[in-house]
Amino acid sequence: MTTQAAVNDSESIDFDAIKNLTSEEAKAVDQLIINELSSDVILINQMSHYIIGSGGKRLRPMLLLLTAKALGKVSDDHLVLAAVIEFIHTATLLHDDVVDESDLRRGKDSANAVWGNAASVLVGDYLYSSAFEMMVRTNNMRVMEILSTTTTAIAEGEVLQLLNCNNPDTTEQKYLEVIARKTAILFSAATRLAAVLAGSDKVAEDSLALYGQQLGVAFQLIDDALDYKSTTEDLGKNLGDDLAEGKPTLPLIYAISHGTESQAKVIVDAITQGSRDAFNEVYDIVISTKAIEYTEKCAEDAAQKAIAALDCLPKSESKDALIALAKFSVQRDH
Ligand code: IPE
Ligand code: IPE
Ligand code: MG
Ligand code: MG
Repeated sequence: MTTQAAVNDSESIDFDAIKNLTSEEAKAVDQLIINELSSDVILINQMSHYIIGSGGKRLRPMLLLLTAKALGKVSDDHLVLAAVIEFIHTATLLHDDVVDESDLRRGKDSANAVWGNAASVLVGDYLYSSAFEMMVRTNNMRVMEILSTTTTAIAEGEVLQLLNCNNPDTTEQKYLEVIARKTAILFSAATRLAAVLAGSDKVAEDSLALYGQQLGVAFQLIDDALDYKSTTEDLGKNLGDDLAEGKPTLPLIYAISHGTESQAKVIVDAITQGSRDAFNEVYDIVISTKAIEYTEKCAEDAAQKAIAALDCLPKSESKDALIALAKFSVQRDH
């Protein structure tokens, strides 16, 4: 069997079984997160516990922990950085829901829907700052360099995306630049940091960072497909948020170039206006032009590259779990 077939095969991934492999360490990470969330400013406590406590897959800390395990063992600094990565992720979600005007997150009213935009932006800033406070405790300049370049790139990705909004001429390449920065770089930081703390050589470190990067690309491609094809129940987010923001994601970019002239016009108008009104019509065009299949194929290719980058690891249960997570990022429905 080729590895390509392995990404496409019908074997469904048991996400909970993968999660169980690091359940003890994940508990310690959650405890670190809870300890860090105590502020004497009551609104910070309320909001941060609300968003952190409403779940989430904890995928990024899991990637860091599994990579650490695959390289030997999970150290205390690995646990701290797993918490740091989840803090940064949560901060980006608080900000992202303001920018995207999303009112549902993790199956609950988003923080901005409950407390408003100003509070979400400020508590997002608090989480960012807390993450940096924790990170400094590792007393490792390389770690700080990786995380600071990562957060800068995420911000650049979000701003680039803002510039593309309502622009139907956005190319596939420009879209890929956005998702590399806004999403994939944090996955890449998670796996790179695990390698740095384990004392891996530069070749292995870069290879594991590439795994994280490609997995992150696959993950965001599927997120953008799910915004059209999932259900609110499965996703815990509202469908059509991307269209409402006039976001030219890959399903739309592909449908514009592969639909008829009139189909392309419907999508161009919907992106330009940034409204949910044409969702059903846009959805039908996305389906009939096979734009979802194309997006999924791109995600499979990225997951394939991620899996190939794991060749640097010796055989282990954790390595198998990392392979399975790359497949999960393509197969997932939430
Ligand atoms: C959502 O990430 C943001 C994207 C990069 C698409 P997740 O899907 O990992 O969010 P949670 O943490 O599980 O809610
Ligand atoms: C998520 O992008 C990227 C970041 C949070 C930086 P999306 O806007 O697609 O994420 P969701 O769909 O709201 O989770
Ligand atoms: Mg969003
Ligand atoms: Mg999305």
